Amino acid sequence: MRNKLIIALDVNSFDKAKKLIDKLSPYVNIFKVGSQLFTACGPKIINYINKKGKKVFLDLKFFDIPNTVEKAILAAAKHRVFMVTLHITGGFDMLKKAANALKGKKRRPLLVGVTVLTSKAGKNIAKEVTKLALIAKKARLDGIVCSAKETKRVKKVCGKKFIVVNPGIRPLWAARGDQKRITTPEKAIENGTDFIVVGRPITKAKDPVSAAKKILEGLK
Ligand code: C5P
Repeated sequence: MRNKLIIALDVNSFDKAKKLIDKLSPYVNIFKVGSQLFTACGPKIINYINKKGKKVFLDLKFFDIPNTVEKAILAAAKHRVFMVTLHITGGFDMLKKAANALKGKKRRPLLVGVTVLTSKAGKNIAKEVTKLALIAKKARLDGIVCSAKETKRVKKVCGKKFIVVNPGIRPLWAARGDQKRITTPEKAIENGTDFIVVGRPITKAKDPVSAAKKILEGLK
């Protein structure tokens, strides 16, 4: 299960991220670097995680003209990240250009498209997520990011091998924060996800190690 749990390092400095990585490394294998941390300290944090023998999920959610996104994806690949995100709503040409840029590369990151953010709720979201997932698949992305409520439907439509990443994960004991389409870690795994992303329930806990252990225990 430790290969399915991704810790979102949403902190504002290298030192704070380093402390979390050092503490949590014995229990988890993948760390997510998002826009806050990357803007604060740059590729230094990616190098640190890689040197520890852990994997980096670079979640910068690229959304731009196709040429710019293609170059950003290539820059991410140079950092030897495990997985990288871009917004599916950036359009088919942008997605295709990004996927083509990685084609044939030996050690390439997985390319996953963001569908509808888990902080959003409303009618017809599952339908919208499925529509975006199909666009991502057609553009030859490796998978998508969605809430665990949509995993089954996406896997049914896009196939079991199409990677699904679920944020918006909340154990029953954790605060929901700004997330709306939330699911427990247990339910997300039961629904067939490939990865769950957990941030604040672990990083803001008094004891992040015991919070992470508690989640992993529940998944056994
Ligand atoms: O703290 P929390 O567990 O809510 O963190 C979830 C993480 O997943 C955040 O870093 C957020 O940027 C990211 N994310 C998300 N919803 C998406 C894609 C990424 O919450 N659709």
